[in-house]
Amino acid sequence: MPNSNTPLTAEKREKSMTPLNGKNTLTITDNRTGKQYEIPIEHDTIRAMDLRQIKVKDDDFGMMTYDPAFMNTAACKSKITFIDGDKGILRYRGYPIEQLAEKSNFLETAYLIIYGDLPARVQYEEWVNNVMMHTLIHENVKKFVDGFHYDAHPMGMLISSVAALSTFYTDAKNILDRDSRRLQIFRIVGKMPTLAAFAYRHSVGRPYVYPDNELSYAGNFLSMLFKMTELKYKVHPVLEHALDVLFILHADHEQNCSTSAMRNVGSSHVDPFAATAAAASALYGPLHGGANEAVLMMLDEIGTKNNVTAFIKLVKEGKERLMGFGHRVYKNYDPRAKVIKRLADEVFEVTGRNPKVDIALELERIALEDEYFIKRKLYPNVDFYSGLIYQAMGFPVEMFPVLFAIGRTPGWVAQWDEMLLDPEQKIARPRQLYLGHDIREYVMMGKREEPKKVKPEA
Ligand code: SDX
Repeated sequence: MPNSNTPLTAEKREKSMTPLNGKNTLTITDNRTGKQYEIPIEHDTIRAMDLRQIKVKDDDFGMMTYDPAFMNTAACKSKITFIDGDKGILRYRGYPIEQLAEKSNFLETAYLIIYGDLPARVQYEEWVNNVMMHTLIHENVKKFVDGFHYDAHPMGMLISSVAALSTFYTDAKNILDRDSRRLQIFRIVGKMPTLAAFAYRHSVGRPYVYPDNELSYAGNFLSMLFKMTELKYKVHPVLEHALDVLFILHADHEQNCSTSAMRNVGSSHVDPFAATAAAASALYGPLHGGANEAVLMMLDEIGTKNNVTAFIKLVKEGKERLMGFGHRVYKNYDPRAKVIKRLADEVFEVTGRNPKVDIALELERIALEDEYFIKRKLYPNVDFYSGLIYQAMGFPVEMFPVLFAIGRTPGWVAQWDEMLLDPEQKIARPRQLYLGHDIREYVMMGKREEPKKVKPEA
């Protein structure tokens, strides 16, 4: 029996919960009818469809669960990422995020997430070659990016250009063909940094920089972003390593909003470029991947350490939200935030300390002692410190969700692949609880009641 501080994966939980009376079922009594139902329990869950037999009248639709925002609903089975929110644990394919951040690199971690195991050397070299051979984008994409307004948000440009790739790679529609899926995955993982860099270069009015495949994945991205007139961009190893680790930390996170979008949209059997654009759109929101941008704007609004107490008061009054804090799953410190906090010191050694980090540290110090946050189990999440590093590295805040998207791409495509291979999955189509009007007869225009004129308030 695992000791109490060992988080239980579904399999372990199953084994550890040997039924007391030998019955792995839920007995439900419908007090409206007095009927009893035995519902099988598997992995400590019940199948929602097993509730449909619970009816009052035979011609009833049958019982459903109601779970807005899917707070307590497993939409799929997955073997990719395990999170224990109470213990602040995150593992990709069983490997703790802390070990991968310390010992792996982003493309190796991407391989692990997509293929399920750490690659042997030959597999790794072949994978890196396949990805780096797909960093170029069709020349026509430049015309597409050129068409954006000068101040277009890079995330809006990335979403649009990822979707546009589906018009260049029509073979991507062969989503049931394994080899085609593999090829699209090379393309998507390979091209995201190029699209991101092109969006950035457009937003600063500089010429596009083509991929340099002699560089690492993170190094090539930095080159496409920041190369000026020099013949070859000189990658700073500390910044290259920091970006690579940040990509690792963002690579997957089980069924978060954007990954759920990837799975839902992908379940219609659309091509993976369109599905990835949908996932990136979900990530763009300030409650999700847009939070790191919102954190920096919040720190700018606070201005100095002395204003932190007043800001925390506004948060507790519900007038402000402490961006970068809180999480649907983590009710403990986000393990990624711990790694990022350590990484910040490495980067600041090179770039100089981001003065905003003092405001962030004071926010964290006060929040972690305050009952409002303790009661709600609100801790720093992955977005709280990442923006400080990005800003110190020279990224404008608008690029922060774009960086998140590059890191999350292996997770999106891995979850998409897993969804397509899952025999239980079909097109996602949730039900609803209809509380609207009962049937009504159509009323001709002339016979409709005119709205009562509301006197404007004095
Ligand atoms: C990411 O899902 C993932 O895995 C996401 C992610 C990933 O890797 O994909 O980890 C990446 O999206 C991280 C989260 C980034 N977002 C932010 O930092 C935005 C700020 N955080 C929140 O908006 C919020 O915490 C969420 C959206 C992250 C989680 O929201 P929930 O689970 O729906 O929680 P909730 O809104 O129901 O909050 C519970 C309570 C509420 O108070 P009461 O109504 O009970 O009084 O906590 C409060 C909330 O008002 N609360 C906050 C807060 N977060 C929650 N109060 C102040 N500041 C906050 N940040």
